[in-house]
Amino acid sequence: MLKIAVLISGNGSNLQAILDSIDSGILKCSVEMVISDRKEAYGLERAKQRNIKTYIVNRSEKNISREILELTLGKVQLIVLAGFLSILKGEIIEKFRNRIINIHPSLIPAFCGKGMYGVKVHEAAVSYGVKYSGCTVHFVDEGTDSGAIICQKTVPVYNEDTAETLQKRVLVEEHKLLPKAINYFAEDKIRSEGRKVFVIEE
Ligand code: GRF
Repeated sequence: MLKIAVLISGNGSNLQAILDSIDSGILKCSVEMVISDRKEAYGLERAKQRNIKTYIVNRSEKNISREILELTLGKVQLIVLAGFLSILKGEIIEKFRNRIINIHPSLIPAFCGKGMYGVKVHEAAVSYGVKYSGCTVHFVDEGTDSGAIICQKTVPVYNEDTAETLQKRVLVEEHKLLPKAINYFAEDKIRSEGRKVFVIEE
């Protein structure tokens, strides 16, 4: 069974979607630990309710990536960033090459990169006037939101949308896309050729 660590900073609704998919039998993996860089993150409560081990790492600490590497190495096969706001750097990227994934609430390469997080992403999409936004699950590499794309889902943007209404509509899709992406790993369906990631369907 695939063992995963889920890293969060806030509400943890994506963590909840993972747990719900496991409960319903759609996703076959085990959440070994939840790591947060904010002690007040509500996602920690969600984990504790399930008796999942939780860890808090200090986001102002230079060695946060090192700390996370020590918690996860040899314990999990996949690290899932689900609304985790700190940037992972250094050895962890190498040690977990193609085994760290992130969910981003836009169609990468639009509205991503430094400073693009939370509602800011949706503000940028609405003010740009795009007709479609969406969400992306991608590998984490040395850059910010720059790793190879695993899967994406489009979401229409309507004339009357505000950043908040778009955010809500995208989040509904995130909750389906992230468990689906994790399942690709659980079922060993991911193959990569450079930036191109293929999902092998029988
Ligand atoms: C999501 O929109 C995710 O894409 C982004 O941060 C948000 C986290 O939401 N990276 P939640 O904590 O899972 O509710």
